[in-house]
Amino acid sequence: MFSYLYMKILESSPERYDRGISMASLGAADRSRERMVKDLGPDDRVADLGTGTGALAFLAAEKGATVTGLDASAGMLAVAERKRAAHPAGDRVRFVQASVGQMDEVLETGACTAVVSSLLFSELSPDERSYALSQAFRTLVPGGRLVISDETLPVGFFRRLVYRAVRLVMVLVSFLLVQAGTRPVTGLPEMVVQEGFTVERVEILNRMGSFFILFARKPETP
Ligand SMILES: C[S@@+](CC[C@H](N)C(=O)[O-])C[C@H]1O[C@@H](n2cnc3c(N)ncnc32)[C@H](O)[C@@H]1O
Repeated sequence: MFSYLYMKILESSPERYDRGISMASLGAADRSRERMVKDLGPDDRVADLGTGTGALAFLAAEKGATVTGLDASAGMLAVAERKRAAHPAGDRVRFVQASVGQMDEVLETGACTAVVSSLLFSELSPDERSYALSQAFRTLVPGGRLVISDETLPVGFFRRLVYRAVRLVMVLVSFLLVQAGTRPVTGLPEMVVQEGFTVERVEILNRMGSFFILFARKPETP
């Protein structure tokens, strides 16, 4: 759980982000990204929202997919671009500096077979989350996939108590250091359905129950 607030601190130091997020999440962030790209292949055209240093984008490209990674942070994208130059699948990836609010400008309607996003939604406001989902729907072909992983509130009184106690400390620390925080993502399956997607499954990835991957699909017919 530490990773999700700690990541705000790491983002202020993009050079250290990859190693830091991997260590702080005890490998959960790496494992979740591997699972997210499992079903992608050479026919896929993918948008990675909040791509950061491009970890998920490169995994998708290694599967043969063509990827557009979108992120608001010039610092994170500078690291992503350096990695791209040295990556064997780097020619299948392009990075665009844009916020989620600019998805209508940078992603064409029906251009993608999959929209993926790892650890972004906890940084978005409720309005930005709805907007990102509606734009993902527009961007996807019929039958296209939406795969989102992030932090959520655990189920159960004691788990939630522990989670909230630890989180409170981390919120204070990260706010003091970088004046920023994150919010656990709740109610996402309902929001996704409201935008017209069909939820296929939600996987919980850690013992605390605070990290999920949601798999959804845009219906083949309207
Ligand atoms: C915790 S990092 C996750 C990076 C990467 N997806 C990963 O799995 O490691 C969150 C990223 O979302 C980006 N971000 C936050 N708010 C955004 C917004 N409104 N539009 C675009 N990117 C945003 C940040 O710049 C950061 O790179």
